Amino acid sequence: MELADVQPGEMVYDLGSGDGRAMVVAAREFGARAVGVEIEPVHCAVAWLRALFSGVIARVSIRCADLRQVDLADADVVFLYLAPVLVDQIRPQLQSTLRPGARVVSLSFPFEGWQPAGIDIGHLIFLYRMPPQRGSIETYMRSTLT
Ligand SMILES: C[S@@+](CC[C@H](N)C(=O)[O-])C[C@H]1O[C@@H](n2cnc3c(N)ncnc32)[C@H](O)[C@@H]1O
Repeated sequence: MELADVQPGEMVYDLGSGDGRAMVVAAREFGARAVGVEIEPVHCAVAWLRALFSGVIARVSIRCADLRQVDLADADVVFLYLAPVLVDQIRPQLQSTLRPGARVVSLSFPFEGWQPAGIDIGHLIFLYRMPPQRGSIETYMRSTLT
């Protein structure tokens, strides 16, 4: 959240939200609204209870769904801590649905071919910023290098 400079009122998605701890931090400590997408029903229930007992349920929602099916058009920040195969699968969805300037934060696994806008090397967290126009982030990267 610090690396992405999450601001109060911003919409943070946690794709593969697990027990919801990242969403609770986003809502409680950064004043964000948070949406968790989680495929395991038990994790969804635990995350909902965590948000409830942390006093942030009004700003947190949990979608018990496959993260590959979710519309991210209103996201300001997308947080993910996923296996590399899923990071790869989600890439076209991020490119086609995220609005210009949206930030993507990936824990542990970088996006191959994307130039990070920031790295927390100690915690292995990679920050990316979507290009000012919709389209391929790779094309944008190339254009900024020439
Ligand atoms: C490493 S955990 C990360 C949990 C949380 N984001 C965190 O940082 O504490 C990955 C989570 O992704 C979920 N997951 C895996 N594949 C998924 C999918 N296709 N759709 C939604 N969630 C998925 C898993 O059930 C697991 O809870």
